[in-house]
Amino acid sequence: MSMQTQIKRVTVPEIRAHKGAKPVVCLTCYHAHTAKLLDKHVDLILVGDSLGMVMHGLESTLGVTLDMMITHAKAVMRGSSRALVTVDMPFGSYEESPAVAFRNAARIIQETGATAVKLEGGARMAETIQYLTQRGIPVMAHIGLTPQMVNIQGGFRTTGRTEAEWPALEADAKAVADAGAFAVVLEGMAEPLAARITGLIAIPTIGIGASAACDGQVLVMEDMLGLNPNPPKFVRQYAQLGPAIEAAVEAYAQDVRDRRFPGVENVYPMKKAQ
Ligand code: KIV
Repeated sequence: MSMQTQIKRVTVPEIRAHKGAKPVVCLTCYHAHTAKLLDKHVDLILVGDSLGMVMHGLESTLGVTLDMMITHAKAVMRGSSRALVTVDMPFGSYEESPAVAFRNAARIIQETGATAVKLEGGARMAETIQYLTQRGIPVMAHIGLTPQMVNIQGGFRTTGRTEAEWPALEADAKAVADAGAFAVVLEGMAEPLAARITGLIAIPTIGIGASAACDGQVLVMEDMLGLNPNPPKFVRQYAQLGPAIEAAVEAYAQDVRDRRFPGVENVYPMKKAQ
């Protein structure tokens, strides 16, 4: 038996190779049917902890648990076969120590079959990123607006709009790249800073509200499909599925009220008595 297994999904080195080349196409996804639909069109699927708000109606990502992430990541893995799947480490699952982060990241990788994890934080998480990557767990970093810090920051604040903020954020980007992250999400970041960071580090920057100066973009899928009635202002919507679903449900409700719904014999012919 050959010792080499064919890896059919996009690999971490393939994502790294996007640096300075073709932009990385990335969307969030939390369930099997949508994973199947977007699989061949994106390089990377992120099972983001934004699923707390989108799927579970939470106010922030802070209530998301490791078990929730694992459940949704399993569904996405079943629905997809090509894109690289990265899973967010939820609040409380990695900050305490590199060893705790490893244990929880290993659970994600073992139980879901996903390739990589993402965690929030720059220089302060560099030791953990190095610890995980040296032990076989690819890490995508996430700096700029980091939603898990909402209570410290007093809200979701965009970053880099004053030059005074730039040195710390540039140091964060350098620290996560030097620690071995294979890509870094820049969230809610002013374009001049996103451009500087993209030029400064050797790994792809994947922006969300951080401009086309980045090496790729990630959006929350429900935002770009028009399912979120209050999407962030920077999101371009490619469909209006919210209104489409409402119209379809209204038509369905009318059909049911008018008794326009079939029985099985409309689809499967009646059987003759033997
Ligand atoms: O959880 C998420 O969806 C994310 C993206 C916003 C990058 O982290």
